[in-house]
Amino acid sequence: MGLTRVPGLLYGGDYNPEQWPEEVWEEDVRLMAEAGVNVATVAVFSWSRLEPAPGVYEFGWLDRVLDLLHEHGVAADLATATATPPPWLVRLHPEVRPQDAAGTRLEFGSRQGYCPSSPVFRAAAVRLARAVAERYADHPALVMWHVGNEYADHTTECFCEESARDFRSWLRARYTTLDGLNAAWGTSCWGQHYTDWGQLEPPRKAPGPVNPAQLLDWRRFSSDALLACFEAERAVLKEVTPDVPVTTNFMSVLRDLDYWKWAAAEDLVTDDAYPDPADPRAHVKVALSYDLMRSLKRQPWLLLESAPGAVSWREVNVPKAPGVMRLHSLQALAHGSDGVMFFQWRQARYGPEKFHSAMLPHGGTGTRQWRETVALGADVRRLAGVAGTETRAEVALVLDWDSWWGLEAPESLPSNRLKLHQLLLAWYAPLHARGIAVDLTPPGRDLNGYRVVIAPNLYLCTEEQAANLASFRGQLVVGPFSGVVDADDQVHPGGAPGPLRELLGVRVEEFWPLPDGEVQRVETADGRGLTASTWTEWLETEGAEVLARYRGGPLDGRPAVTRNGTATYLSCLPEDPAPFLDAVLAAAGVTGTELPEGVELCRRDGHLFLLNHGAEPATVSLPTDGVDLLTGRQLSGTVVIAAHDAVVLKHS
Ligand code: GLA
Repeated sequence: MGLTRVPGLLYGGDYNPEQWPEEVWEEDVRLMAEAGVNVATVAVFSWSRLEPAPGVYEFGWLDRVLDLLHEHGVAADLATATATPPPWLVRLHPEVRPQDAAGTRLEFGSRQGYCPSSPVFRAAAVRLARAVAERYADHPALVMWHVGNEYADHTTECFCEESARDFRSWLRARYTTLDGLNAAWGTSCWGQHYTDWGQLEPPRKAPGPVNPAQLLDWRRFSSDALLACFEAERAVLKEVTPDVPVTTNFMSVLRDLDYWKWAAAEDLVTDDAYPDPADPRAHVKVALSYDLMRSLKRQPWLLLESAPGAVSWREVNVPKAPGVMRLHSLQALAHGSDGVMFFQWRQARYGPEKFHSAMLPHGGTGTRQWRETVALGADVRRLAGVAGTETRAEVALVLDWDSWWGLEAPESLPSNRLKLHQLLLAWYAPLHARGIAVDLTPPGRDLNGYRVVIAPNLYLCTEEQAANLASFRGQLVVGPFSGVVDADDQVHPGGAPGPLRELLGVRVEEFWPLPDGEVQRVETADGRGLTASTWTEWLETEGAEVLARYRGGPLDGRPAVTRNGTATYLSCLPEDPAPFLDAVLAAAGVTGTELPEGVELCRRDGHLFLLNHGAEPATVSLPTDGVDLLTGRQLSGTVVIAAHDAVVLKHS
């Protein structure tokens, strides 16, 4: 069973019929059927067309669109249309526009311009969501609700008076008393002791660095404020259509929203992914985000948007070479997506996205793009049996949003060079290169289904999280600058690694970040030399064995990497963590596969995906025999996979 009642995998994209005269719609649905499209995302930005004046609805055009889609076998991922508030709402209530940290109200004329805390916006959005839900509850095309659009895109936070009020109530709910807040925020520092709730404000532009505990709560609050918008609409949709799954499209590995919390509020996880065709490592980065999507609910997810070719929002928008749209789509399936969808179906003639690629380009059906769209539809049908299959990972990477926000708070850290996404990628890349499946996990989830758990960084680590890590019976790896602060961003007594100290058998005496461009030599116990950059620490062991030491420089001879039982600690960032990773994998009994450069291997139950991202043919020895679902050929032994080609083996 797939994610919706559409059988097999989903194939389609965003469809914006309101940008086209009605005669074009007939051609659209005919061509959709030709390409094998079975789902379209509709009405994402249609508020001003569906409700042109307060409480006045014009659903006729959308009725016709949904009927047409249904007649041609295309289901609807129907949006509640609340992503862009219409001009009349903005002019009647100018305060729904978001305000930036410097106090400027942002003007209408783009999209997603609303204050997440605005009661006026929330009420108007909920009213429209109800009207849409009641209108289409029984429409046979409806298979999924799409709420908002890419929450936190364009508007991540708002600093207006209404947001300030909402922030204060959020803080009251969290701390109950001002004493509690003053203690948590450490307001004795720099004279910030609050004596009235009304004195609290969002962290607007201030003369100097803002209290980092206030910033951390602001990040939590801003994620929650947007989530409240989603949840308000979701509640209405569930009331009217309890059985229709509700989603909102995520934005891959995004710092601004706590996706563990968000995913828990959704029925299915959907993601928008735009790997840059100009970046030769893009397939590794996007693989990490796909694995996050699969891990959020530990079930298949859906690639709801991707680009058939070029996007229109980079400085230089490079198209996808022949075969790359297919390869990228197969990659999403390989990592657990139950479909392939694009932005967008028909290329726009106007607006900021008129040069963004589409399944059906300006040039029409006589184009390479269209031929690839049709061919991919056929491939997706061949892979229908992949829908609903699971991925089993033995290795997990820890990701925690509170910790991420703390780590990347500006102007208060020993170094601003530690970026969590990069730290995750540093461990993810070698696992990916070995064809080892990886889940992402929050630090508090039961970890004992895994053999290896890696926390590349856990700057903020609570006693409970540390206890959960300590209860993990497999191989644990912890990266530098971890266990530093508690949930209030206050340094743990005795310093790092705080609650992880006993588990790791080490104590960090001093953080020793490296200046930009400087490297530090590290030598393993068996004499191998490595270089570390960005970060080192003055480490004292308290029972841990030393696996590597610093050589040269102020830390010469001091421990760099340690092991305490099954827990390995790295106090630095080696440019290549492979020697430590391989030892940990071997100790855990996790085996990888030797793969040519650029070849990716992924498994879903009964299926093996081999994807050649390289520009040259690659020879791969198959770990199992089976039938290539893309070609129908029986394969065994070694296969040669052409550049940008793939094999999807069905095996027993
Ligand atoms: C995002 C949005 C879409 C579109 C694409 C273009 O994913 O959700 O509406 O703007 O970007 O890449």
